[in-house]
Amino acid sequence: MTDDNKHLMDEEHQYFAKGSRIKYFDIVIESGQGAILTDADGNQYIDLLSSASSTNTGHSHPKVVKEIQEQASKLIQYTPAYFANEPEVKLAKRLAEIAPIDGPAKVTWGNSGSDANDAIIKYARAYTGRQYIVSFTGAYHGSTYGSITTSGVSLNMTRKIGPLLPGVVKVPFPSPWYRHAGESEDAFIDRMFEAFKLPFDTYLPADETALIEIEAIQGDGGFAKVPERYLNQVAEFAHANGILLAVDEVNQGMGRTGKMWSIDHFPEVTPDLIAVGKSIASGLPLSAVVGRKEVIDALDAPGNVYTTAGNPVTTAAANATLDVIEEEHLVQRSHDLGLVAEKYFQSLAKQFDFIGDVRLYGLNGGIDIVDPKTGKADGLAATKLIYRIFELGALMITVRGNILRFQPPLVITEDELTSGLEIIKHAMEDLKNGKIKESAALKGIGW
Ligand SMILES: Cc1ncc(COP(=O)(O)O)c(C=O)c1O
Repeated sequence: MTDDNKHLMDEEHQYFAKGSRIKYFDIVIESGQGAILTDADGNQYIDLLSSASSTNTGHSHPKVVKEIQEQASKLIQYTPAYFANEPEVKLAKRLAEIAPIDGPAKVTWGNSGSDANDAIIKYARAYTGRQYIVSFTGAYHGSTYGSITTSGVSLNMTRKIGPLLPGVVKVPFPSPWYRHAGESEDAFIDRMFEAFKLPFDTYLPADETALIEIEAIQGDGGFAKVPERYLNQVAEFAHANGILLAVDEVNQGMGRTGKMWSIDHFPEVTPDLIAVGKSIASGLPLSAVVGRKEVIDALDAPGNVYTTAGNPVTTAAANATLDVIEEEHLVQRSHDLGLVAEKYFQSLAKQFDFIGDVRLYGLNGGIDIVDPKTGKADGLAATKLIYRIFELGALMITVRGNILRFQPPLVITEDELTSGLEIIKHAMEDLKNGKIKESAALKGIGW
């Protein structure tokens, strides 16, 4: 057993910004294949996080690796800001064709989900000639100034860095934990839609509002799916008032939810713009905004150019990623294995009273850990669980402090999935039996 994890972490600690890592476990990831990771000391883990949903095709998928290698030996970079490259041309067409946009669509490139969501603000303002932007509490849209402003999931995304982008208004996301005890689904939706409308009724002129952006299924916000009637009403309101609707698919797109796009779960809603990132290039830095042709045509160069965005290697990786998703039926696989996992978690919920809720959408979801006496969020218990899961050989993190984040690569084998689920069960038994003690290692873990 080597001590490389510790040595590398100690060295990094001296030089690496604390604002750039949410602390979980002190390991250095050395390699990955499919759903299996190996750390610098040679320990192996079943990956239940997929690098924050950015490796849906698994780690170093052979087809993706081959395309990257071949493209890298031909041309690594020529900036699409000045000249096209073939993989990028091919990918733009493919994305425009598969995006859930009505009518002709066009594509623009970025390097991260964050700048894609900034671009969405630019395009919406340019097309509508209006300034105000509406987003939701609990959202994670990114870390650039625009996208951190539209986000609403952590005080540290506002603290110390203001003023944020002007003209952004937040409305409450209808997360299940905001539903009152005994409140019907319909009454909840009506109440949340009233809250959505309140700004428009009091100080926010709808005719000066450019954009409403939403994660149809919030990821970091706790794996919360917006109720269908609520989103239908929001979309109708947007349409009636000439406001564009954007859906952030960065976390929940690319087959993650058991459908290609999270918005495919809402047949009555068609967005004007979507943001895609993370898994689009199996983890290479590429993002895209796909939007209605006339919206994307509203902005003139260089209104949205980045030197490396859409570069030949990242777009070749993205073309290979789309091939893998198709050839290996990963959307269906996400759906099918998601049902297997959901059944397992539901059976755990019967055995362990600290499981407050299970929400799975494909191979993707959140398991709420609560204090059984009060039903309230229990962050310490959730931290103990993920730490024990880590010790037992699987990587899982939390969101919102108390929600287990379950997002394995979509290529995970059934055996690996079973082993991962059994590890979670084992950890839950240990928690129930009081076997997981508080320790220094748990300090400071999580969002
Ligand atoms: C829904 C969503 N949008 C945008 C982003 C930002 O993407 P990136 O970190 O690649 O900038 C994330 C990242 O977690 C996300 O989950």
